[in-house]
Amino acid sequence: MVQSHAASVDVAVLQEELARLASLDDGSASALGAAFYTSAEFLELETEHLLRREWMCVGHVGELRNDGDHFATELLGEQLLLVRHEGRVQALSNVCRHRGNRIVDGSGSARRFTCGYHHWSYDAAGQLVNAPLMAGRSGFDASTCALPRFRTELWNGWIFVNLDGEAAPLAERLGGLQDIVANYHPDERFLVFLEDTEWACNWKCLFENFMEGYHLSAIHPTTLHPITPTRLSKKMVSGDAWTGYHAFYDPAYPPRGPFHADLTDEERNNSPMYGVFPNLVVGMATNFTLFMCLRPIGVDRVGIRWGVTGLHDDRVPTMSPTMSSCVGRSTPRTGRSSRYSRLHWRPVTTRVARWPPTTTKEPSGTSFSIWPATSAERRPHCAIRPSTSSWSEP
Ligand code: FES
Ligand SMILES: [Fe+2]
Repeated sequence: MVQSHAASVDVAVLQEELARLASLDDGSASALGAAFYTSAEFLELETEHLLRREWMCVGHVGELRNDGDHFATELLGEQLLLVRHEGRVQALSNVCRHRGNRIVDGSGSARRFTCGYHHWSYDAAGQLVNAPLMAGRSGFDASTCALPRFRTELWNGWIFVNLDGEAAPLAERLGGLQDIVANYHPDERFLVFLEDTEWACNWKCLFENFMEGYHLSAIHPTTLHPITPTRLSKKMVSGDAWTGYHAFYDPAYPPRGPFHADLTDEERNNSPMYGVFPNLVVGMATNFTLFMCLRPIGVDRVGIRWGVTGLHDDRVPTMSPTMSSCVGRSTPRTGRSSRYSRLHWRPVTTRVARWPPTTTKEPSGTSFSIWPATSAERRPHCAIRPSTSSWSEP
C-alpha cells in the first residue's frame, strides 16, 4: 500500500488540467502544478493506471549472475523475489502460500527458499518442495502451492517487471533509444555498485530532474558545469516510451575514455541521459553508467535502487565529483575503493538520505531544492523547456 500524508484534491480537476497541459505545443509548455506532486489521490491514480500497468525497472542482471542468485524487493506494495533459475531471470511473489509471511529478505544465492514461519520450502522455480507434517493431509496438494510469477523483461541488463501482466513488450518500444545507446554497449557493462535508499521527494521530481540539462551550469557550477555545461546540452530525439538529452562534454575537459571501439567521435563527446518511462533514469557516460530505479513510497518519498555499471568487472569506473554531489556521499574521482571495486555484487545496504542532501551545496554556496512549490501562486506558469533542441546558458 502506497502511503501518503498529502492534502486531498479533486483528481478530476487534475485530470482535466493534465489533458490541457498535454495538448500544449513546446512553445507554450508549462510545468505541472504543485498538486500533481502532493496529491495522494493522484498518486493512487498513477499507481493504478500507470505504474502497475507498465514495465517497472527493479534492478540489474549483475545482481543475478548465476542460478540461485536472488534479491528481495518491494514494488508498489508487492513483495517480489527476483531469482535466476536455469539461466532465466524470474520475478516470484515473495509471499508464502501458507499464511502470507515474507519468505526472503535481502539477497544471496540459494537453491531453496524456506519460509521462517513454519518452514515451508520453495525451489528457485517457485514450486513448493517441502511442507513439514503436511504430507498425506487431505485437501493439501503441494502442486497448487507454487509462488505466483510476474512477467519480466530484460533490456540492456536492466530487469523490468510488469505487475498487471498486460503491458506490451518493452524492447520493441525502445527501438529508437536502442539506436542511440547501441555503440555505448550498455549490455556489456558490469554492475560494480548497487544500493537501496530512499529520498524525500516526489518520484516525478527525480525523473524530471534527470531528464533536463537546463540546470547543470546553474546548480552544479563546480562539478557538472566544467564537464557538461548547460549550453552544450541537446534534447534527445524522444519516443513514447522514453525521453532524455545528450550532455555534451566541454572540449576543455580531458577525454573520458577508455572508449568502446564502436563509439563515433560525437558519441565519445556526450553522455546520453535518458529515462525509460515510468521509473528508470540513466546517465550513460562513455566509461560508466549511473542508473536509478524509482518507486514511489508516498507523494513525498521515493525508494531508489541506484547503481553503477562499468566497462570492466574489476575496475573502478572513473567517477567525477558530480556523482558524489548528486547522491550526497563521498565517492572517489579515480582509483580503487572498497565500495566500487567489488568483483561480485553483495547484499545492498539500506541508507536513508534526505533530498536535497546537504552535500549538494557547491563551494560557491549555491544550494537547491526540487521540491514542488506548495503554493499555486508561486508557479502560475513555469516554462521548463526553453527550446526543443538545445538550451542556452542561463
Ligand atoms: S507462513 Fe510460511 S510456512 Fe507458514
Ligand atoms: Fe543535477
